[in-house]
Amino acid sequence: MCSDSMAAVLGLIAGSYEQVTFGYRVKTDEPEWTAKAEFTHHAHTASISAAAASERFVVTGSKDETIQLYDMKKKIEHGALLHHDGTISCLEFYGTSHLLSGGEDGLICVWGTKKWDCLKSIKAHHGHVTSLSVHPSGKIALSVGTDKTLRTWNLTNGRSAFIKNIKQNAHIVRWSPDGDKYVVVVKDEVNIYDLETASVTATMKNPKRISSVKFLNNSILAVAGDDENVRFCDLGKEKWVCEFKAHENRVKAVDSFEMEDHCVLELESPTLLMEVNTTARLTCLAVWKPSSVQPPAEELAAPTTTPQELIQELSKTKRVRIAAEEVILEDESKPKKKKKKGVGKKTTE
Ligand SMILES: *[C@@H]1O[C@H](CO)[C@@H](O)[C@H](O)[C@H]1NC(C)=O
Ligand SMILES: *[C@@H]1O[C@H](CO)[C@@H](O)[C@H](O)[C@H]1NC(C)=O
Ligand SMILES: *[C@@H]1O[C@H](CO)[C@@H](O)[C@H](O)[C@H]1NC(C)=O
Repeated sequence: MCSDSMAAVLGLIAGSYEQVTFGYRVKTDEPEWTAKAEFTHHAHTASISAAAASERFVVTGSKDETIQLYDMKKKIEHGALLHHDGTISCLEFYGTSHLLSGGEDGLICVWGTKKWDCLKSIKAHHGHVTSLSVHPSGKIALSVGTDKTLRTWNLTNGRSAFIKNIKQNAHIVRWSPDGDKYVVVVKDEVNIYDLETASVTATMKNPKRISSVKFLNNSILAVAGDDENVRFCDLGKEKWVCEFKAHENRVKAVDSFEMEDHCVLELESPTLLMEVNTTARLTCLAVWKPSSVQPPAEELAAPTTTPQELIQELSKTKRVRIAAEEVILEDESKPKKKKKKGVGKKTTE
């Protein structure tokens, strides 16, 4: 175990069918963690379908077609993002600079978090966008939709880079933290894809339909679904390595985070540190950490000796900035631009 005596506080954010977002402040510096209700946020007029957190903001998406912003620093609502014409199905921050949203209108929107403007609106799928995931490099994103395709997006120009017909409607797609592989979930199956070959290297079957997955590290995937258990899958060994009862009935969402003093991933039998009863039917979950949000990966683990242009491109430059209509690929050797202070005004109405 690593030792670190830093007092730690984090935020647990859960969305519900009842339109309310619950925020808990969790104290983690004692053996028994304690959660204190910090806020309830009732900005939506329909059930909440997605949640995500950056260093400063919590965002929730809903069947009411809006994305609501909550400023965790000022502890106030920060307005709404109105662009989608349908349920918001997925939300993902890229670092602190961008938010991507996907909706049942088939659109993927790229938002700048400074002014909360819609930098790009991509007609991504025929039918719904069910899930999206940004590569750790920020250069490409994957999406799946109800048109039975897996699409790769070049975030530099907002164009489609690859389309793969997967013949089934997938509902989750996730890059691994190193970006060398990704998983696509269809019903009760996790298909593991290799970046180089863009083909399935293994398939893991869960006993029930899968509702949520989360990479704990580059090889261990936590899988939750329509039963009470959470399972850990070792993607390299293609084996389930751990299983534990997490809830009394089906699990809606699973998330994870790293802590300085819990840096060893214990696979034997995770212990319950804390639970809260919101009395609501929860739909989604996000973890907010005040200062130690994982920065975008600096280095790509992906091999550089591959046939595909995409992979070459991914390993060439390391970071990307998404600008209004073009994205500037930044070379790490060049000095970075000075960051502007303060966050822009809220709401696009
Ligand atoms: C992930 O965690 C497991 C369990 O602690 C460990 O055995 C494995 O080496 C880790 N894998 C990576 C890629 O870090
Ligand atoms: C949560 O609280 C409600 C209302 O007080 C109660 O009916 C329910 O049994 C509780 N659930 C759990 C799992 O404790
Ligand atoms: C994305 O598009 C830009 C501009 O068209 C191109 O230079 C770049 O190589 C593409 N990136 C990837 C990862 O394919």
